[in-house]
Amino acid sequence: MRIAINTILTSNSIEGTEHCSVPILSNSVVVVIDVLRASTTICSALYNGAKEVIPCSSIDDAKDIFSRYSKDTTILGGERNGIKPLGFDSGNSPFEYSRKKVENKTVILTTTNGTQALQKVKNSKMILIGCFVNLSSIDAALNKIALVDNFESEITFVCAGNNGKSSLEDTLCAGVLINKLVNRYDNCYLNDNSKLAMKTFIEMKDNLLKECYNSEHGKKLIKLGFKEDIDLALKYDIYPIVPVFKDGIITTP
Ligand code: MLT
Repeated sequence: MRIAINTILTSNSIEGTEHCSVPILSNSVVVVIDVLRASTTICSALYNGAKEVIPCSSIDDAKDIFSRYSKDTTILGGERNGIKPLGFDSGNSPFEYSRKKVENKTVILTTTNGTQALQKVKNSKMILIGCFVNLSSIDAALNKIALVDNFESEITFVCAGNNGKSSLEDTLCAGVLINKLVNRYDNCYLNDNSKLAMKTFIEMKDNLLKECYNSEHGKKLIKLGFKEDIDLALKYDIYPIVPVFKDGIITTP
C-alpha cells in the first residue's frame, strides 16, 4: 500500500493534455492551490458566510451567470492583471469578501489563473481548495480521505501558477502539505515536482512571508498596493474550512 503524491506546478500544463491527464486526475483527490490570491479569497468568502462561490473561466461567463441571479443575493468578483474588471462589485482581495458583504450570498468569481485551474480539473474524483489560511483543515481532510479509502486515491496538488509559469507561493504551499504527509506516512511515493515542492518549502520555511513578498506575483501585488493581501494569505489557519468544488459550485459541506 502506498500513497501516490503528484504535484502539477502550473495548471496550464493540464491544458492540451486531455487525453492523458483526465484519466490520471479522474482517480485523484485534487487540491487546487492559488495562494495569491484566488484560493485565499475563496476561503475568505466562505468563512465569512457566503452561501457558495461559482468559479468562472472568463469575464463573459461570469457576467452571464451573474445576469441570471437576483442582484441583491449575488456578488460579481474577480480580477484581470490583479485589478477589478469594469462593472464588477469586488476585486480579488480577500479583504473585499467581509461578512457584511458576502453573508448568505452567492459569489461569482473569475480570476486570471485560479478559477481557470478549477475548471481544468473539474473531472477529478474530489476537488478541494487549499492555501495557508486553511492549511491544517486541508491536511486533516487529506488524512481522513487517505484512511477512509485505504490509500486507493492518489493526491494531486494542482498549483495554479502564474500565466503558465510556476509560482513560488503555490509551490511552497504544496510543499508544506507534502511534508506533512511524508512525516505521517512511510509509504509516500512523490513525483519529481512533489520532491521539488517539499525541498523548496524545507529550504524556505523560516522566511515564507519574505519569500512571498519577493516572488514574481508577490512583487506585482505589492506594486499594485496589495501588500496586506500577502500578509493575510500567509497566515496559517485563520479560515479553518475545507472548500469543495463539485458540480460547478464551491461550498463547505
Ligand atoms: C489568479 O487567479 O491569477 C490570482 O488570484 C491573481 C490575483 O488576483 O492576484
